[in-house]
Amino acid sequence: MSKIKVIKAINYPIYIGKASFTRLNKYINSSEFKYTKFLILVDENVKQFCLPVLIKNADKLKFSEIIEIKSGEENKTIETCKLLWQKLIDLKADRKSVLINLGGGVISDMGGFVASTYMRGIKYINIPTTLLSQVDASIGGKVGVNQNKLKNQIGLFSNPEAVFINNVFLKTLPEKELLSGFAEIIKHALIADADYWKLIKKQPVDKVREWEDIILRSVEIKNEIIKNDPEEENLRKVLNFGHTFGHAFETFSLKFNYKFLSHGEAIAMGMICESYLSYKIAGLPESQLDEIVKYILSNFEYYKINKDNIEELFKFMIHDKKRENNNLNFTLISSIGKAVINQNCSNDLIKQCVDYYCSI
Ligand SMILES: NC(=O)c1ccc[n+]([C@@H]2O[C@H](COP(=O)([O-])OP(=O)(O)OC[C@H]3O[C@@H](n4cnc5c(N)ncnc54)[C@H](O)[C@@H]3O)[C@@H](O)[C@H]2O)c1
Ligand SMILES: [Zn+2]
Repeated sequence: MSKIKVIKAINYPIYIGKASFTRLNKYINSSEFKYTKFLILVDENVKQFCLPVLIKNADKLKFSEIIEIKSGEENKTIETCKLLWQKLIDLKADRKSVLINLGGGVISDMGGFVASTYMRGIKYINIPTTLLSQVDASIGGKVGVNQNKLKNQIGLFSNPEAVFINNVFLKTLPEKELLSGFAEIIKHALIADADYWKLIKKQPVDKVREWEDIILRSVEIKNEIIKNDPEEENLRKVLNFGHTFGHAFETFSLKFNYKFLSHGEAIAMGMICESYLSYKIAGLPESQLDEIVKYILSNFEYYKINKDNIEELFKFMIHDKKRENNNLNFTLISSIGKAVINQNCSNDLIKQCVDYYCSI
């Protein structure tokens, strides 16, 4: 794919492709917007690896104010937001200023939240630089921060003015981060598009050289789902596939500390469990279950838990259950490419999924 692709989100465009810098320049120079100030939010890695690339390709931005925060999920807090709001005041940002979120999901989640609340909301745009933020976090309008380790507990729905996705940024992304985004790509294929599954299955993630078509298809899938359910009343739940077990794996690995799982790694293991559950109660053929498990394990390292851990893992899921009105709500797949929402199952079956997971 050489040309730029433009996807219409609810009320903003998403530009995908190497030529997205051209669109960015057009946007910056457009008389329609006449921003008084450009502010770019970065963390230290993005400042080092991505900011020079951006400025080189959009030279008007060299006059921007750069706001830097420390990288890491642990900094996605209201305390950091307070520093950012103050910084905006110090820099005399007004209602005609625009915040450019250059970075991964932490930057777009928190930058979007800060922009949407500063002076009752200033405009912001996203330039995602991780695979995860390119196919997931930078689109969909969910912005916010964590509160006392509760993920994304504080936030709102607020859309960017535009999103510019350029895979040139992926060149410097560490492999672990690339894998994290790839889990969401696998999820998109499994819940929505059997042909897309065939395409990504052709090669393991470390052999992918051309990301543009993959990113495009994933964004199309997520965007289509969101357009039909912007505030997660129903359909948007399909995006939760792999995440009920996945979050339990994620919390487990953080608590027991012997090997931290990234979000994507945890979701990959979660998709194994939830594919098994799909086989048990949603009609997923056994051959497809085997296909999914084999492909996931050819890309992601198996996260070993033993029988003693089953209870702990189970507790994390029950904890979630309490938070969701005593009802564990799963999104499953009835076949590759077809999701079914609002699936419930017994505790015993959940344990069977963990048993299955331990046995592979
Ligand atoms: N809003 C949503 O719909 C949504 C969806 C999925 C995830 N999220 C959120 O996204 C966050 C995770 O996103 P993430 O994985 O992008 O994390 P991240 O922003 O922490 O980025 C991961 C790491 O990569 C570094 N980095 C970023 N771009 C780089 C580049 N091009 N080269 C080298 N290093 C680079 C960052 O400094 C950071 O250390 C979580 O907070 C999650 O809750 C939000
Ligand atoms: Zn996820």
